[in-house]
Amino acid sequence: MSSQTITAENAGIWKLGDLPVHRLGFGAMRLTGSAAFHHGTPSDRDRSIAVLRKAIDLGVNHIDTAAFYFSSLRSANELINSALAPYPDDLVIVTKVGPYRAYDGEWGTSARPEDLRGHVEENLRQLGRDHLDVVNLRRMPKYDSIAEHFGALAELREAGLIRHLGISNVTPRHLAEAQAIAPVVCVQNRYALDRPDPDGDVLLRVCGEQGIAFVPFYAVAGEAAEQGATTAHDEGVRAVARAHGASPAQIRIAWTLHQGPHVLAIPGTGNPDHLTENVAAGAIRLTDEELDRLGRAHHKAC
Ligand SMILES: NC(=O)c1ccc[n+]([C@@H]2O[C@H](COP(=O)([O-])OP(=O)(O)OC[C@H]3O[C@@H](n4cnc5c(N)ncnc54)[C@H](OP(=O)(O)O)[C@@H]3O)[C@@H](O)[C@H]2O)c1
Repeated sequence: MSSQTITAENAGIWKLGDLPVHRLGFGAMRLTGSAAFHHGTPSDRDRSIAVLRKAIDLGVNHIDTAAFYFSSLRSANELINSALAPYPDDLVIVTKVGPYRAYDGEWGTSARPEDLRGHVEENLRQLGRDHLDVVNLRRMPKYDSIAEHFGALAELREAGLIRHLGISNVTPRHLAEAQAIAPVVCVQNRYALDRPDPDGDVLLRVCGEQGIAFVPFYAVAGEAAEQGATTAHDEGVRAVARAHGASPAQIRIAWTLHQGPHVLAIPGTGNPDHLTENVAAGAIRLTDEELDRLGRAHHKAC
């Protein structure tokens, strides 16, 4: 089977609350330009629109975005709206609030709880929706507790503006704090093959036990983070990639999906060929031996 014919269905399904999604989703952050945020070259608009439409054609029904994903000329939410509205019935759009950026692209101070309604409404306007499927509260370093902010989002959920809530950039303590206020359907944290994270390991396990999705970001980028895909691959990753006729990026995504049935992948790309590859990675089945080898690479980085 060529990569071209493999769809996101091959990765299996998980439910975000009552919303089923294919475990292989799409991150919209890379659609807006070379440096993801303001100071790079803005993306080619037609190309970004084509990537989004191709994602849907390939069976992706889970898109991760934020109002603060914009470059000087492109906004991820506007691209999603222009490319995909009227939205397919099964499409789940997950957005996030917390930190925010001024019109000139500079990061603003952290949102206060009372700011969050406006930030949710900004996402509603840009996406052209009257409710948001899932909103993640992205924890801001300024606040040790997420209770007040999460409480504000829980009120917006009660008011019908949000269907489900998640949290991002958190520790296990924050998950417990949020759950005392309202149900949490997903946790989105940085987690990658080359980046061990003891808190992440605990959260991944706890989420699995409680039926909460664990959604890693920078799974492909790894240590390179905002800069783009890492090229510093462990020899184990390269060997497994060779055995599957796959790229190291694909093995990183496949490894992510093998961490549990509740683990979702949201690789981000503005490149249609990378999108095809990333979706195809959802069909890669790693053997126990390969998982041991990749696991050693993961823990070696510890
Ligand atoms: N909650 C949070 O705080 C947070 C933080 C960051 C990101 N996120 C979300 O998580 C998503 C994933 O993160 P991400 O997009 O930054 O990182 P990623 O998916 O780990 O990696 C994206 C980078 O890898 C490249 N890439 C993607 N597929 C590739 C492939 N098959 N071969 C080679 N290079 C490839 C992309 O460049 P090309 O465009 O050239 O393919 C881009 O530079 C984001 O899109 C965003 O929705 C959330």
